[in-house]
Amino acid sequence: MQGDCMKRLSEIADNSIDTIFADPPYFLSNGGISVHSGKQVCVDKGDWDKGGTPEYIYEFNRRWLGLCRTKLRDNGTIWISGTHHNIHVVMRCLQELGYKVLNTITWQKSDPPPNLSCRYFNFSTELIIWARKSEKKPHKFNYEKMKMLNGGQQMTDVWRIPAVSSWEKLEGKHPTQKPLRLLYRIILAATDEGDTVLDPFSGSGTTGIAANLLGRKYIGIEQESEFVQLSMRRRQALEDEASRKTLYDKMRTLPEETTVLVNHMREADRENAMRTGITYVRAGDSKGSLLVKEGFERLGYVCLHTNGDNPTLFKLARKGFQIWTAEALREIGFSAENAPYYAVLRFEPTSQVAYDQPVNLRKRQYTQVPHIQPISDFIGLK
Ligand SMILES: C[S@@+](CC[C@H](N)C(=O)[O-])C[C@H]1O[C@@H](n2cnc3c(N)ncnc32)[C@H](O)[C@@H]1O
Repeated sequence: MQGDCMKRLSEIADNSIDTIFADPPYFLSNGGISVHSGKQVCVDKGDWDKGGTPEYIYEFNRRWLGLCRTKLRDNGTIWISGTHHNIHVVMRCLQELGYKVLNTITWQKSDPPPNLSCRYFNFSTELIIWARKSEKKPHKFNYEKMKMLNGGQQMTDVWRIPAVSSWEKLEGKHPTQKPLRLLYRIILAATDEGDTVLDPFSGSGTTGIAANLLGRKYIGIEQESEFVQLSMRRRQALEDEASRKTLYDKMRTLPEETTVLVNHMREADRENAMRTGITYVRAGDSKGSLLVKEGFERLGYVCLHTNGDNPTLFKLARKGFQIWTAEALREIGFSAENAPYYAVLRFEPTSQVAYDQPVNLRKRQYTQVPHIQPISDFIGLK
């Protein structure tokens, strides 16, 4: 929808939205300096971001947050991003309006631009308040999916995600575009397939693109026609299957993501592994050592299979691995016979992890040779 969200929000049915992500004006375009592509630039995101009086900023936030609350379902939640320029006012308004604050997420940018003045600590974070509509009604939270994304540990309120990348700007630029990876996590945490997501300050439509890629419905409101056009181009680009897949894969993979060792084992060895909680891979051979494969240091899970059959996922019991001789493995019943040394990993055999998007292990490259894949290949759309 194009227009002022203060007006257009009234056209949306009450109690119809599952989650709202809002990236409102931070009101920081007031003559400060920043860095863009290595050059010093004046902070000027647009007229919509110029500050007003404290009273104006308070009234502005209170109004749109009040309108949004009526649109949320009773178990619905809202996420609002900000920095110290606006976030404390937003927090006050949320509390006054009867929302219940659930978390304040710190989004830590893994690649922040430098601070040129050298008179401050480098600004490398943004805050995202997560709140629910009502004090009493329980909210939706896909806890297990978040835990899996975090290598089997509870997801914390510090999210390390890079700032927006060039592959997200192929259709044009918005001065304050949010990364798809951030919206991926938010939407996955708070909604299920088919739910409806609203963004009242939609800008280049990032929330809508992530929602669409995840099979959610979306309503976005943006006042500037330039940005509405950009959103429509981004949406149109998803019609091309190849571009859609590229975007989807990039969105759900973080450079620092937990990985899974996908390991073929012969039937008898696999049964022994499931009994002992031990699995192993050759610690190097002429075809290249697994130990130097990218992602090995971030292993959190192991997926055992036999020629693609019966894939089962287990959480590793501890980080890292030990090097064992083939002889030591043979002593406890394994048929290790192709190499003198093996990397041994321990997992908890009784706690099989459920996942909803099995990778196709029958493809030739996944059998026989151990493979490392991001955990997001195992959990996904649902
Ligand atoms: C911080 S940007 C959002 C960027 C967006 N998250 C993205 O990833 O592209 C805020 C957007 O809200 C729009 N905006 C500001 N005030 C508005 C209002 N009252 N109604 C609708 N849109 C508004 C601005 O034009 C701007 O594009």
